[in-house]
Amino acid sequence: MLNIAMDGPVGAGKSTIADAVAAELGILHLDTGAMYRAMGLAALRAGVNTRDEAAVTALCAKTEIGVRQEADGQHTLLDGEDVTGCIRTEEVSLAASDVATYAGVRSAMVAAQQRIAREAPMLLDGRDIGSRVLPEATVKIFLTASAEERARRRYQQLIDKGERADYDQVLADLKKRDDQDTHREVDPLRAADDAVIVDSTELSFEETVARIIAVIREAQHE
Ligand code: DC
Repeated sequence: MLNIAMDGPVGAGKSTIADAVAAELGILHLDTGAMYRAMGLAALRAGVNTRDEAAVTALCAKTEIGVRQEADGQHTLLDGEDVTGCIRTEEVSLAASDVATYAGVRSAMVAAQQRIAREAPMLLDGRDIGSRVLPEATVKIFLTASAEERARRRYQQLIDKGERADYDQVLADLKKRDDQDTHREVDPLRAADDAVIVDSTELSFEETVARIIAVIREAQHE
């Protein structure tokens, strides 16, 4: 079964690129970051300190994170409630990065993702898909871009949404999350040994999608 792993740092455009690539291949796309975000939101709502590993791990054990694929894309569920619209704030981003450092949270999410991936041909995007969730994936892509370019894109996104944003703050938050994702002890962000690295710093959205499709087609013919 076709399983594609796409990993990379925050703001590399993974989610939108993954959506476009999966649509072109006619397969589903699982955004695994949304599951960590839902867990971060659960902690914030429960008033649990996201720096408290034991408390977050205990909360995770009694929390159900799920996804539902609908015509307009993935919907993320927290104990059955559709929280898709509440998980993209900076507060939830930082909470997600905290909770994603805990082994107990990660093993629960990885198990859920492996279960979902067995259901249908799928592209999974995240940080540890090629190295941990799907070590046997058909193709592994590591999508990256310079920190400045990723911050610029994120800043533009916020401005386009009509939100107030400060580029330097966006860059600082992004570097903080990069640092936390790369240096955590459990399943840190890294390119799997057999991943193909795609650097989108100088590429447009369409060029990036085309490059990745080409890599996948080539791997399928090998
Ligand atoms: O891709 P994202 O920004 O929505 O991810 C949210 C957080 O979850 C981010 O800090 C990294 C973490 N994450 C992870 O550790 N492993 C994954 N497979 C996906 C996301």
